[in-house]
Amino acid sequence: MKLKAIQYIYHQELDAIYDPNEVDSFFFILAESFYNITRIKLAMNPELAIDDMEKILNGLERLKNEEPIQYIIGDTEFFGLPFKVNQNVLIPRPETEELVDWVLNHQPPTTNHQLTILDIGTGSGCIAISLAKHMQKAKVYALDVSSEALNVAKLNAKLNEAEVGFMEVDILKIEERKGVTDFKFDIIVSNPPYVREKEKEQMKANVLNNEPHLALFVEDEDPLQFYKAITKFAVNNLTDNGLLFFEINEYLGGDMVQLLKDHNFMNIELKQDIFKKDRMIKGQIA
Ligand SMILES: C[S@@+](CC[C@H](N)C(=O)[O-])C[C@H]1O[C@@H](n2cnc3c(N)ncnc32)[C@H](O)[C@@H]1O
Repeated sequence: MKLKAIQYIYHQELDAIYDPNEVDSFFFILAESFYNITRIKLAMNPELAIDDMEKILNGLERLKNEEPIQYIIGDTEFFGLPFKVNQNVLIPRPETEELVDWVLNHQPPTTNHQLTILDIGTGSGCIAISLAKHMQKAKVYALDVSSEALNVAKLNAKLNEAEVGFMEVDILKIEERKGVTDFKFDIIVSNPPYVREKEKEQMKANVLNNEPHLALFVEDEDPLQFYKAITKFAVNNLTDNGLLFFEINEYLGGDMVQLLKDHNFMNIELKQDIFKKDRMIKGQIA
């Protein structure tokens, strides 16, 4: 069948759900990913046809279900690096790139020990792997409770030739993991789950129905559950002057400042993202 005819079917089926420009963009992303046919190639050969239509028609069905394009092609980009994604991991977000950038701008002065970093709730491994690539002398560790997510993160470390030590750990039960609790880190960074159940209705269906709820949601009654556990861990497991970085819920900046104050952190800084939302916080251990 001619690709142009398939593009026409895409518009027929999807223009009611997406903007037609977005439909074109999806069509070309899939044509390139599945058949290596770029937009320019098709413009130059409008009669181009494919025999095996299964993939592109399956892509159409998944788009009809509002599945994110990154899951359909299995790839995304973060901090200029390629990452594999599937439904066991959150699709890395641009605001998390800002967090990585912030960490990179706060590298502690060179010490005589090797710098150690821990990423808590690593998902696709995007934070840990980007830091490992840009801080080549540091030893980077990352943990997640999900073994499926860790499989994706390990694949991504290999893909990017980054060295990261991955661990399957439940941060809410970290006291039970002696190996980890004995260790000290210069930097602890985390983008833990932070969306309250009551915020679900503001979310787009493509996120709600496809991305892992384990990565997203916390109970309304205790929205800082992960932050409390990680801050407590950081108090005992940061080196002198060590730094703690979080991505945060934009509505909970004030509570996060208080949490770090209550644990005697110094140099606390709340930072907004490019959309002027409170999105990150850092503190230094006293
Ligand atoms: C918001 S996602 C962040 C993923 C990735 N770091 C990123 O920034 O794209 C939160 C991650 O925390 C993990 N997680 C959820 N509960 C956890 C727990 N109890 N202990 C450790 N990790 C947990 C989830 O599996 C998920 O990968």
